[in-house]
This record gives sequence, C-alpha cells and structure tokens, in this order.
Amino acid sequence: LPVHAQPADAWLNGPPAATVRAHASHKGSFGDVLVIGGEGLSQRGLGMTGAAVLAARAALYAGAGRVMLALLDTRETSVTLDPVQPELMLRRPEAMDPTQATVVCGCGGGDAVAAWLPRVLREAPRLVLDADALNHLATEPTLQAALQARHDQHQATVLTPHPLEAARLLGCDTATVQSDRLQAAQALADQYRSVVVLKGSGSVIAAPGQRPHLNPTGNARLASGGTGDVLAGLLGALWAGTGAPRAGEASGLLAFKAACAAVYQHGQVADDWPAGHSLTASGLAAALRPAGAAGPTG
Ligand code: APR
Ligand code: MG
Repeated sequence: LPVHAQPADAWLNGPPAATVRAHASHKGSFGDVLVIGGEGLSQRGLGMTGAAVLAARAALYAGAGRVMLALLDTRETSVTLDPVQPELMLRRPEAMDPTQATVVCGCGGGDAVAAWLPRVLREAPRLVLDADALNHLATEPTLQAALQARHDQHQATVLTPHPLEAARLLGCDTATVQSDRLQAAQALADQYRSVVVLKGSGSVIAAPGQRPHLNPTGNARLASGGTGDVLAGLLGALWAGTGAPRAGEASGLLAFKAACAAVYQHGQVADDWPAGHSLTASGLAAALRPAGAAGPTG
C-alpha cells in the first residue's frame, strides 16, 4: 500500500480555521467534547476511572471549549467535581447530551459502556471509540450495523485500537496485525466504515478511500498506562475545534485529518520531552497545547 508520511499532508489545504484563536472567539468557537467512561460494573472496569479523567484533561489542555465527563460509575456516590481539574463538567450519564459534542467513548467504562453505546452511535455527530467501546464493538453485530448506519448518514467515527484491540476487531491474533500494520489498519477501516488509528510504534491512520498515513513521531516513552486515553481526548478536542466541514469536504476526511494531527502532536510532545524526566500520562496531557497557544491573534 502506498503511504504518505508527511505530517503537513494530513491537513491538505492548511489547518482548519478554528485552530487560530481569533480575538472575537468564545468558548463555543472551539467545540465541546463529551468523554464517556469510568468504572462501570465489570471487573475489567474497576479502577479505570483514571482513563476517562485523563482523556477529559487531555481535551481541556488541547484547547476544547468545554469538556463534559460522564462517569459510568455505578456506586451510589455521584461524583460532581474533579477537585484537581474543576473546569471539567461532570455529568450523570442520564444527563449527558451526545448530540451537541464530539464524543469520546470507552476510556474505561467496562461492561457499562455497552448500555450506552447504541444511543451514542445513533446520536453523536462525531464519535471516537476507544478501548472498552472497541471490545464491545468486536463482539456485538448490532453495534457493527450501527457503524454502517453512521457512515451512510455522514456521521464520522474514529476507532483508536492498540494491536490487541485491533486483533479482536478483525478476529485474528495480534501477531497477524503486527505483521502488516498498514494492511490491518486499512482492513479495519473498510470493515467498520470508520477512520482507524492503529496505535503502537509507528501508528497508522487509515480511512475508507484514503491512502493510509504512517505517523513519524512518538517513541517508546509513550509505552505507559494512560497515554492512549490522552490520545483519545486530544483527538476529540482537535476534531471539535475544526468546526463544520468546509463546502464539499466529507465528514470522514475531516475526521481523518484530525486523527493524523492528533497522533502527530501526541508523538511530538513525547519526542520533545526533556531527557531525565519521567513521561507520565498526566504529564503528557498537561503538556498539550492548543493551536494558537502562543497568544491571541486577530
Ligand atoms: N512508540 C511509539 N508510540 C508508542 C509506543 C512506542 N514504542 N508504545 C506505545 N505508544 C503509544 C501508542 O501509539 C498509543 O498512542 O502510546 C499509546 C498507548 O495507548 P494504549 O495502547 O491504548 O495504552 P493505554 O490505554 O494508555 O494503556 C492502558 O490498558 O488496555 C490496556 O493494553 C492496554 O496496557 C494498556 C493499558
Ligand atoms: Mg488504551
């Protein structure tokens, strides 16, 4: 498969308008991100609330106008505030509105995610599915059919599997995925009618009808728990910040561009990390910068 590895290529006609902070902008200009995750009911979900919080913080630091966080926490206590990050707007899952935001779903959540996925797939105009959401998608034909319906209605979806999640989605083993990552990413994109980020050393971004893109940034310091959640939140923020597709631009192309940009920036922050300093997922999230962060313009 032909590959283009030029990061600038991903933005084709230059960065979307919303990445430059015009003086007259307000928080609505930069888009809303809704992160859905948490612990959920299952054994797998226990102790995974950090995943959703990391994704939400990454979206904040990457410049999303507002970040909502719906924790699928089945204990009676309802958390309404992240005391370390009070900007985050915590929502009871029943109170969330997936129709008005770029939704990032599956950073934790375990089995509880399954109950929300049909609605999220139906309603979210832009949707990033990670981790626990992908594991449900791999085994549930009705969810797979919902992805096809989204594609038919021009509601773009991005899947962000690591190699094991990709293997589950393809029904093969991890070694097969890793033996030809370009082919695996493209097969996923075609089968699931979605933009796919196949993560790992040399992340591949693929989409139906696009040449796959091999990301040149990133290094093994990213191999620590939670950095994938940071990527999901960053991607949500960049996508939310692009506004509506330009005239004649497909929603899937905008998603593809946002995915390429997010993976590039995620890796670049790790490449620029000072030697001798630990790279944690929290630190990575806090080091993200929105485009135009040098100062307001216009
Ligand atoms: N080179 C470049 N990038 C890397 C490398 C590497 N050697 N290793 C990891 N990365 C990047 C990936 O591309 C991805 O963006 O770090 C991120 C890791 O994301 P995940 O694999 O999703 O890991 P994460 O979810 O953060 O960790 C949680 O739970 O589900 C398990 O297997 C998962 O152990 C992981 C943990
Ligand atoms: Mg992950």
